[in-house]
Amino acid sequence: MENKMEWWKQTSIYQIYPWSFQDSNGDGIGDLKGILGRLDQIQDLGVETIWFSPFYRSPGEDFGYDISDYTAIDPRFGTMEDCDKLIKEIHKRKIRIVLDMVMNHTSDQHPWFLESKSSKENAKRDFYIWRKGTKRTPNNWISMVGTSGWNYDKTTDESYYSNFLSFQPDLNYRNPKVKKAMFDVLDFWLRKGVDGFRLDIFNSIYKDESFRDNPSSLRYFPTPDNHDEAFFQKKLYNLNLPESFQFAKEVRKHISKYKQKPFLIGEVSGSDKVLKSFLGEKADGLNLVFQFELIHFDYEANFFKELLEKNERVFPAPYTPTYVLGNHDQRRYIDRLGGDVRKAKVLSAFQFLARGIPVVYYGEEIARKEGKISSFFGKDPIAKMNRLVPLFLSNLLGIYINRDNCRLPMLWEMSQNAGFSKGNPWLPVGTFQPEDTVLHQKTNKDSLWNHYKALFHLRKGSVVLKEGSVRTKSSTHPDVLCFERVLGDKVVIVYLNFGETETQEVIPKGSKPLYQFGRTKELGGALQLGSHSGAAFLTKLKK
Ligand code: NOJ
Repeated sequence: MENKMEWWKQTSIYQIYPWSFQDSNGDGIGDLKGILGRLDQIQDLGVETIWFSPFYRSPGEDFGYDISDYTAIDPRFGTMEDCDKLIKEIHKRKIRIVLDMVMNHTSDQHPWFLESKSSKENAKRDFYIWRKGTKRTPNNWISMVGTSGWNYDKTTDESYYSNFLSFQPDLNYRNPKVKKAMFDVLDFWLRKGVDGFRLDIFNSIYKDESFRDNPSSLRYFPTPDNHDEAFFQKKLYNLNLPESFQFAKEVRKHISKYKQKPFLIGEVSGSDKVLKSFLGEKADGLNLVFQFELIHFDYEANFFKELLEKNERVFPAPYTPTYVLGNHDQRRYIDRLGGDVRKAKVLSAFQFLARGIPVVYYGEEIARKEGKISSFFGKDPIAKMNRLVPLFLSNLLGIYINRDNCRLPMLWEMSQNAGFSKGNPWLPVGTFQPEDTVLHQKTNKDSLWNHYKALFHLRKGSVVLKEGSVRTKSSTHPDVLCFERVLGDKVVIVYLNFGETETQEVIPKGSKPLYQFGRTKELGGALQLGSHSGAAFLTKLKK
């Protein structure tokens, strides 16, 4: 069957955090040459698109999310020549490449900001959001990290606005010159052939033109999928503005003239209505947005059933849902499963077999665990703000304040620093066993790495899994999630057992097994599913 759907609606995404993937020069920090050396393994795993967290020039205060030059490679990671080679080698392997684009803010060391803050008359003054005088804050807006968004600067006796940390001043998109400058940056990378952008805190791009105060709220803690009401404030006027929804369309239009048909995936948060506004009422906004419901999953069949059904209701085709279990800002999901690899297999199978884009964070495929670094010793700027909050308390409150813990070096093999670096790693590798490493897991057919490999390849090779619609089915046991993917007369039927007990399901006659994991057995038309196991079969639609 011919595969006609746009490529980005069918892809699978693997996120690399360059700091922690592979160091090639012994300085303890991952780099582009290191990644180049690992491309064959990424290809072997079956990855279709790689998203890189930023490697542009940056002071590194927020580990690259504070950019001081959007068209230069930070020397920590290598040179532009390395980057060109990386793009070429990735494409040679028929993999696509997505860069992280931080459009909302720059570093306070970016030449635009240095100029902007130098005087009120400077040509770049309006590149950022400045408000008049005194040490009093111009309005009540709270940033996404819970502090006032206003930062007083004595050079000109005015305050600039930052919706994240104070060294990340927000750009002013009401100034056409800012838009033009940022579109030039996108063009620079698109001409180099990159296939898309992950847009950092895109929900924050525009702020209210008349700087109205935000109303109050009873809610204090934000969640990964809701920043709009937090720190006792409804963020009506500094997040999710209609102008940002409109801008999503402009960016989409701008990039769509490129022949590689690039796409945008937005980091936005909020209600489904907000997410849909970013995607556009005619699906003409951001191509995809991250959906973070899986960040706080309940490990039970019904949670996943409801999520599938909700996504079909709210984001039916041509919209494409995304399934995200973790990233460089969130506690690793394997820790939320108490390290139970059987459960990780069930979750990842859901992620890859549902209709939508699976987004895998490096290390998830080997059950890379969280670190235990307290915020007191944290390098993460969020940890630095919360030095005295002990790890147990943040865990108890369900808040995540030392992101170092999900950014630990990749575990490649049983050698010095797990093969990550010959130097002193920027974050500790921690203790590990042979079976925690990629090399070891590759040789064990039941390992998580091999499960992920099977899933990546299964999706890659199945037009039904890539393009088919989805519908949930009833199962014989409440712990079993059953759903079908349908395309033409072909059906992939999926069973996932989230429970401890062995169950039995009837499989349609003439079904061909596609993939099974955990303890499963077929017995004359029935499928026995052991605890935390799953199976997928190919069958034909009944006339
Ligand atoms: C979201 C990114 O994922 C995070 O790592 C970063 O600190 C903030 N945006 C600011 O850019």
